[in-house]
Amino acid sequence: MITVFGSINMDLIATTQRLPKPGETVAGNGFSTAAGGKGANQALAARRAGCSVHMAGAVGHDGFADDALALLKAAGTELDAVKRADEPTGTAIILVGGDGENMIAVVPGANGTVTAADADKAVGGMSRGDTLMLQLEVPAAAVEQALSAARAKGVTTILNLAPLIDDAARLGRLADIVIANETEFERLAGQENMTAEEREAALKRLNSETGQTLIVTLGGDGVVAIRDGVISRAKGLKIEPVDTVGAGDTFCGYFAASLDEGLAFEPALRRAAVAGSLACLKQGAQPSIPLRDEVANKL
Ligand code: RIB
Repeated sequence: MITVFGSINMDLIATTQRLPKPGETVAGNGFSTAAGGKGANQALAARRAGCSVHMAGAVGHDGFADDALALLKAAGTELDAVKRADEPTGTAIILVGGDGENMIAVVPGANGTVTAADADKAVGGMSRGDTLMLQLEVPAAAVEQALSAARAKGVTTILNLAPLIDDAARLGRLADIVIANETEFERLAGQENMTAEEREAALKRLNSETGQTLIVTLGGDGVVAIRDGVISRAKGLKIEPVDTVGAGDTFCGYFAASLDEGLAFEPALRRAAVAGSLACLKQGAQPSIPLRDEVANKL
């Protein structure tokens, strides 16, 4: 069983021919809304991968709240630990350019009301052998408490180090498994502009210092990871991306679900990377998360 302790957003998405520069206005060519939030996206990905998933977090009392939870609910995710807060549901303003790249500004709203007490509640029902998955879109104090409560219970913790916040490196030390993109990993390792060789050396150093499993996502180049001193690599599919929003979350959710169902580390990386590639082929974070069979057909 996986519990995801994290953010739930409504994504407001505009598509443009190209992304604007600071201070520039560009014409949009489409607008849509979709359920999002790194926590909710990862929960849905784990659920669509076939896992039993509990989501813990917060939404508001506003019109976005039910829409933000609709796909999680339809997929059969347990939502009892999602509280209704006196702040608006979190929103993300997203621009997607013609090449599939994006810019995102997140307004936390209700996500900002998630507390250490909520963390205790979320972890309270978990047992040894379960998995807790977290990101950094709810307050750092709540993430820290969830990580320490989970450790005390023997629950496996997976922290996606996104988005990059001041506390990222410190919190990153507290999880069993860390998933980071290149920039986030550089923060964890304390070195900027790493070459591929420097990244691999840093993975080995951190793994031997902390014993943590570390995974670095490299966009179209797949992932590089280390577990028990052994470096692994996995590639996704060769694709022309339409919209990369949520691809990293899909990777995280599929990876967690794959370990939870007993898959070995390297096949879990490959399955997650393939799922992440498929998530780039449609618009919207949650609508684009592939189903278990769609991923299985591409492995
Ligand atoms: O990782 C993608 C997500 O980041 C979006 O769904 C958006 O809500 C932001 O949280």
